[in-house]
Amino acid sequence: MNLSLRCLILFAACAVSPIAFAESGENTYKQVCAACHNAAVLNAPKFGDKAKWAPLIAEGQVTLTAHAYVGVRAMPPKGGNPNLSIEGFSDAVAYMANKAGGNWKSPDAKMLVAINKEIEARKAGLNQKK
Ligand code: HEC
Repeated sequence: MNLSLRCLILFAACAVSPIAFAESGENTYKQVCAACHNAAVLNAPKFGDKAKWAPLIAEGQVTLTAHAYVGVRAMPPKGGNPNLSIEGFSDAVAYMANKAGGNWKSPDAKMLVAINKEIEARKAGLNQKK
């Protein structure tokens, strides 16, 4: 088998496996979120702090992901990375939630629709308050 074909097959396997989800969430976390969430910078809910994360996890995956994506107080929109997709962001949120007692999965297409709807609702709400 030539190398490029092998890469293609590996990539396809990774794209659908749960390991890939864990890796992509972990990578995004390390690259974008850890700067604040690793050491509770600006009072960010600390990585692995179950007491801090329990009420957030209780909000539900759709609500929490959408609100964090739009930005909450000192939490910048998209974690401060304007290039971060909602899929990438969601996986990073799920990764953090799972490391603090949650059991969230990479959102499926249906959940992504719900998250996007909540993002629009949140934005509309924020604009009304201004
Ligand atoms: C510049 C620092 C910073 C970065 C970078 C950052 N966060 Fe945050 N994050 C915060 C702070 C501060 C809060 C607490 C906001 C509050 O409740 O006042 C927060 C809160 C959150 C919350 C809880 C939101 C809520 O509704 O209470 C989630 C989820 C979250 N961050 C996810 C992420 C993810 C995922 C990334 C990376 C893609 C990220 N954050 C990157 C600072 C940051």
